[in-house]
Amino acid sequence: MSDHLKRLAAEKAAELELRSGMKLGLGTGSTAKHFVDIVGERIRAGETYLCVPTSEATRLQAESLGIPLTTLDDIGEIDLTVDGADEFDPALNLVKGAGAAHLREKMVAINSKRMIVIADASKKVVQLGAFPLSVEIVQFAHGTTSRAVAKAFAAEGIAVETRLRKAKDGTALVTDNGNFVLDCVNSGIANPAALAARLDGIPGLVEHGLFVGLCSAVYLGSEEGVAVIGKSP
Ligand code: A5P
Repeated sequence: MSDHLKRLAAEKAAELELRSGMKLGLGTGSTAKHFVDIVGERIRAGETYLCVPTSEATRLQAESLGIPLTTLDDIGEIDLTVDGADEFDPALNLVKGAGAAHLREKMVAINSKRMIVIADASKKVVQLGAFPLSVEIVQFAHGTTSRAVAKAFAAEGIAVETRLRKAKDGTALVTDNGNFVLDCVNSGIANPAALAARLDGIPGLVEHGLFVGLCSAVYLGSEEGVAVIGKSP
């Protein structure tokens, strides 16, 4: 999907949501990257923002743009977090984590007054699950945790294949937090909250990429313009 549509979505979100002085959560990925660029432009134009990045990649981008950064521990409640997504459904439940950043993304989102997603039309689905669900797990006994994850899907009546995510060099990918990631290729998630609850109960599972009830609005870029789905600011 065109990078141009991702930029359009980011621009519309910035136009309607940003106010100088805000505390921001900065998402991760090829769409969120555009929003971080815009925050950098706003700062160069004289506006002020204090931001928490959701990954080391976003931290590096923000630092290169001169965006003032702090930590989740120090910022208190965030006014607005803007992030991308792998999928969103009509209830604005999300699948996230293709960039292996969903643990920090969820921690930042949950500590935000408002979390919004910027996306292109390829991310809109009727039911979550066409995209594999990312699950961050500790390295210790990852095979055991992987089997427990498969059981949780099965208990929800979902067929699943769990694959340990690999880095470009063929070794297991290690997240910013020192963990592994499972890609859960599945037959469709009819009840995201129920699957999330089952996954949340697995020892060794650090965080999954289901974001249930966290997203307030999606800015959806298409050739026709940007549609805002959900609650206005
Ligand atoms: C990062 O781990 C993810 O949650 C991303 O936010 C998500 O994968 C969307 O990325 P893109 O904007 O690159 O599609």
